[in-house]
Amino acid sequence: MQVETLPPILSTLRNTDHPYMQGAWTPMYGEVNARDLTVIEGAIPTDLDGVYVRNTEIPVHEPIGRYHPFDGDGMLHVISFRGGKADYRNRFVRTRGFQAEQEAGQSLWGGLMAPPGASLRPGWGAHGGLKDSSSTDVVAHAGKLVSTFYQCGEAYLLDPDTLDNEGLAGWAPIDGVSAHAKVDEATGELLFFNYSKHAPYMHYGVVDRHGKLVHYVPVPVGGPRLPHDMAFTEHYAILNDLPLHWDAEALKNGFHATKMHDRPSRFGIIPRRGRPEEIRWFEAEPTYILHFLNAYEEGDEVVMDAYFQENPEPGPKPDAPRGFAHMMGYLDQHMMRPRLHRWRFNMKTGKTTEQHLDERVLEFGMFNQRYAGRPYRYAYSAVAVPGWFLFDGFVKHDLVSGKSWSLQLPQGRYASEAPFVPRIGAKDEDDGYLVTFVIDENTQTSECLLIDCQRFEEGPVARIALPHKISSGTHSCWADRRFLRDGVLPRE
Ligand SMILES: [Fe+2]
Repeated sequence: MQVETLPPILSTLRNTDHPYMQGAWTPMYGEVNARDLTVIEGAIPTDLDGVYVRNTEIPVHEPIGRYHPFDGDGMLHVISFRGGKADYRNRFVRTRGFQAEQEAGQSLWGGLMAPPGASLRPGWGAHGGLKDSSSTDVVAHAGKLVSTFYQCGEAYLLDPDTLDNEGLAGWAPIDGVSAHAKVDEATGELLFFNYSKHAPYMHYGVVDRHGKLVHYVPVPVGGPRLPHDMAFTEHYAILNDLPLHWDAEALKNGFHATKMHDRPSRFGIIPRRGRPEEIRWFEAEPTYILHFLNAYEEGDEVVMDAYFQENPEPGPKPDAPRGFAHMMGYLDQHMMRPRLHRWRFNMKTGKTTEQHLDERVLEFGMFNQRYAGRPYRYAYSAVAVPGWFLFDGFVKHDLVSGKSWSLQLPQGRYASEAPFVPRIGAKDEDDGYLVTFVIDENTQTSECLLIDCQRFEEGPVARIALPHKISSGTHSCWADRRFLRDGVLPRE
């Protein structure tokens, strides 16, 4: 393994006892390029050619007010596979906020838990005074990586091979782009939404495979909402208006507190290039959904899978360190209790039927993107560590037979969100690998794991050493090199 280290960025963060600046969430700052990574166990398969990218939140400066782990600056980690070899590099996303704070040598924006008016500069994005860190999500589209922020900010473009920052996506509208824009590899389109505090409160848009905004329409809802994700089928996009959103009274005083409202969940189904008057709204059981899996059309029905939170308002975590109970409650999947759940929306009758598909606490689902928007069979979910925003296992579901398989990591090893990588020449939907980064608290090292999805419970087929210990983070994607080159992967 050959490692090149870049000049250091400026960090002013001091030692702290913050629970999300310790262990697997310990911030790291080194930016490196590493070639020909060392294989610890097994072998890197030769039948994958592309990149796995994951976003991370890194606190760079001493925070203004109390730090929330979603406040950190975005850092992308990319491992590139080709011909049985792997290279790695990582870079901060050079957002306007990151650059301004590098120049100032200090935090200029307060975070999610800072009081109103704490920021030293006006910001942009849904909260006004919140730094757009571009630290939540990453997708590949039109040959570039696109990193985004959950509170609706800019879309930042990066080169998938070099991780060179290439500035802002010109297609992003004034109200910004939420995390969880969806890419349909079969058409090369990117479907996105945003939300704001002013009418019509939500928009939906489509960017074509050349990076041109080709559709952008309002999605009128009854007030400020807080959607986090969306879904799509071959012909429709599915937006949501869920009963957990900002408390209007608190918002008047500048506080962004969430509250569960006494009303049903609503899902808006719009033709992918549809007009606002074509949106069909369906009511369903009240819940909050952080992440969706897939959706597809079947006869008169639109079928949608996602994680149904049984307790969207978890309240304070009882055993949390003083001052962190509320934050830690909302980061604990075992308090929110998301269940793999299926909704069926009947486009003829307007009726919704729904049911749990599994009773376990699962989230951060992945599936074979070649089946995105189409009928699919296999889903992969992450298993969260009780009490923490950390993952230590995965569950594979066969959604047709109901069978499932589990993979648990050894004690002290934490995984990241794990996309499915189709094997080159794959014959079946589950013919491929899950790819994930692992932080090992026992050895203070990090690895990349590849798990053969047809031999799910046998453990990884390859363990690949990373050149440094990374920090835990959030979302990720796999991008096939053919998709990066052509901007589209026609269905075979
Ligand atoms: Fe998310």
